[in-house]
Amino acid sequence: MVKKIGILTGGGDCPGLNAVIRGVVHRMEREHQIEVWGSHDAFNGYLEFPKRLRRLQLDDVSGLLQKGGTILGTTNRGNPFSYPFKEGEKWIEKDVSAQLAESIRDEGIEGLICIGGDGTLEIAKRFMDTHGIPVIGVPKTIDNDVAATDYTFGFWTAVDTAMEAIDKLHTTAESHDRIMVVELMGRDAGHIALTAGLAAGADAILIPEIPYDIDKVAGKVLRRQKKKRHFSLIAVAEGAKPIGGDVSTVNLDGNFGVGRQRQLGGLAATIASQLSERTGLEARYVVLGHLQRGGSPVSFDRALATAFGVKAADLVAEQKWGHMACLNHLSIQSCPIEDGIGSYRLVEKEHPWLQAARGVGICLGDK
Ligand code: F6P
Repeated sequence: MVKKIGILTGGGDCPGLNAVIRGVVHRMEREHQIEVWGSHDAFNGYLEFPKRLRRLQLDDVSGLLQKGGTILGTTNRGNPFSYPFKEGEKWIEKDVSAQLAESIRDEGIEGLICIGGDGTLEIAKRFMDTHGIPVIGVPKTIDNDVAATDYTFGFWTAVDTAMEAIDKLHTTAESHDRIMVVELMGRDAGHIALTAGLAAGADAILIPEIPYDIDKVAGKVLRRQKKKRHFSLIAVAEGAKPIGGDVSTVNLDGNFGVGRQRQLGGLAATIASQLSERTGLEARYVVLGHLQRGGSPVSFDRALATAFGVKAADLVAEQKWGHMACLNHLSIQSCPIEDGIGSYRLVEKEHPWLQAARGVGICLGDK
């Protein structure tokens, strides 16, 4: 019987993380009588002195369902296999995974619930395989690109935020006869841009899965002009790319040079200037950025996050180590972590939203 478990949130945050923590604590206390201990900033809580750990009981999770972010904090710089340290002016990486395992064992913690994206879950699984600390995974990302689960919590909140932003841009675009380009998150997947763009009635939607020809997009804007529609709304996924070209990236200072993924960005500015050149219309752009990761989760994300939390608690009680929670056709199930993060779910050719978008005349950059 497991008596004491750790829980952490790693990688980028998303709406619903707190709801998972709440679900875990309720289920552990009500059903399994297993103590839950949170670690701050992913694994970092175990690696610092003094350690930053806290016991989580029902009182501690009261009011968490609605709360965005994560009460445990999170980081993209907490990979114990390549932990960043500053040596003089330079950042270097060290493997502190053995020290982490010792720290966890010292606390009497028998396993970890790791709530994270593909990066965190991959690290968690490697940690389990290398150092024997058992883990259970809970997938999270606003990008909705985890193949093993129909949805990840946070996605629909991000979509609603993006849709509301496009709705607002609609009125100002119309007043000023402008092209408005809005850049949305999603990394290499176009789920957020496609869903929000369709829901808000964008005139063009550009996603990574369909490389675009800017002249086709300009053609759409010009056809609208002819019909006396003097404004256009263009939703672009940050990872969209032109036919034969590459994604647009930015370099930000303070990104701790080590272990970082490339930073997508800059596409909306390019598209706005290219469209303005080709159509003679004024164009403006908005990068919605981390607004999509903030705020209170919408109903679906709260429900899914709660269900994942309860499932993760049950997986601990069953000692189904190395598994993660997932949603399959409205059934909460589990799968081995390596299967869950082994492949990305991109927007597939037959996606119903793609067909609907084409059906209502939205330009997807290819025709
Ligand atoms: O994976 C979630 C996500 O929000 C992506 O959509 C985006 O590309 C990335 O994280 C941004 O990461 P960061 O918070 O490091 O800027």
